[in-house]
Amino acid sequence: MAILVTGGTGFIGSHTVVELIKENFEVVILDNLYNSNIEVLDKIETITNIRPKFYKADILDKEALRKIFSENKIEAVIHYAGYKAVGESVEKPILYYENNVTGSLNLYEVMSEFNVKTLVFSSSATVYGDPAKLPIKEDFPLSTTNPYGTTKLFNERILEDIYVSDNNWSIMILRYFNPIGAHKSGLIGETPNGIPNNLVPYIAQVATGEREFLRVWGNDFNTVDGTGVRDYIHVVDLALGHIKAIQYALSHKGVEKVNLGTGNGYSVLQVREAFEKACGKKIPYKIMDRRPGDIAECYADTTKAYELLGWKAKFGIDEMCQDGWNFSKNIIK
Ligand code: NAD
Ligand code: UD1
Repeated sequence: MAILVTGGTGFIGSHTVVELIKENFEVVILDNLYNSNIEVLDKIETITNIRPKFYKADILDKEALRKIFSENKIEAVIHYAGYKAVGESVEKPILYYENNVTGSLNLYEVMSEFNVKTLVFSSSATVYGDPAKLPIKEDFPLSTTNPYGTTKLFNERILEDIYVSDNNWSIMILRYFNPIGAHKSGLIGETPNGIPNNLVPYIAQVATGEREFLRVWGNDFNTVDGTGVRDYIHVVDLALGHIKAIQYALSHKGVEKVNLGTGNGYSVLQVREAFEKACGKKIPYKIMDRRPGDIAECYADTTKAYELLGWKAKFGIDEMCQDGWNFSKNIIK
């Protein structure tokens, strides 16, 4: 029996595939390579000595999905495939709803057809909107501020309805905080296209000399130093959270929503400092106006992840930056 990983050559997917293989799961990857590279398979093979089966396929193509389910004994699915750029989702909402909602519906439909009812879904802390209280618990009110976030919330609602209609499903909705870092080998990591939106990929490009300085989006928030505070989590910790989640899902029915974060918040300037330490270079910065839609602080209450899954993040901010740099320094363009 195999685990199908949609989006398995992407940033989080590739790290999860490595950990699944380490835990002796058989893995089948589906990815259309829209935001990843086929060479990731070589890297996974170098790290694990196993080359997972790969399909270049699109979740919008139902027939391609049927082919994968009929050619493999799929036991469960970890669903990462989707678009994730917040700004782009505001400009191209139809594209985002089509890929992230229609594509996911296709997947759920085909899973149903093949009687595969165990799923781990990639959601995001973005579904909490601007939280009234911190740390954020899973039962806090949900709201979104952009189409990307809404696609995640729609998926959550769709999955709840699917479970109501058929109690044989086992669904884990994982809400990630801010994944950063890379595998210790330096072979896999995050390779953003164009100008990075997210903080750490941007800082990494300042460190490699691709960008001149970090633009700090506002220093007048009500936080430790006025800059935005987030719950950064090492991507390998996140991958390990998925292993626990899939193991749980394979032995329980129901729908569970679980935060995957560390529970610690770091400000933009604190992350910059940690990255400077990791790369041994100065990261110059300029304070700019706030970025529209940004919130002051966001960090997880991680109690449920520990109580339900026995999972806790192990890596701190210094290790996240060291491992992130270890990967980024090899991909200077
Ligand atoms: P990523 O872009 O690196 O990986 C997504 C993968 O899905 C890519 O390899 C892409 O080629 C593939 N893909 C996209 N559309 C597809 C389609 N229609 N058919 C087949 N493959 C398709 O992104 P990531 O950072 O690894 O994120 C994985 C998931 O986690 C996404 O659903 C994302 O929304 C969610 N998430 C990410 C973050 C983050 O900060 N990285 C935070 C919260 C949630
Ligand atoms: C963003 C997305 C969110 C998504 C998350 C993880 C927005 C509004 N939200 O969240 O939906 O789930 O990424 O992918 O885009 N910062 C700078 N300079 C930069 C980049 C960022 O100062 O060049 C600051 C931001 O203002 C913020 C912090 O760094 O305070 C983190 O930003 P980012 O990495 O974009 O993540 P989020 O804003 O948490």
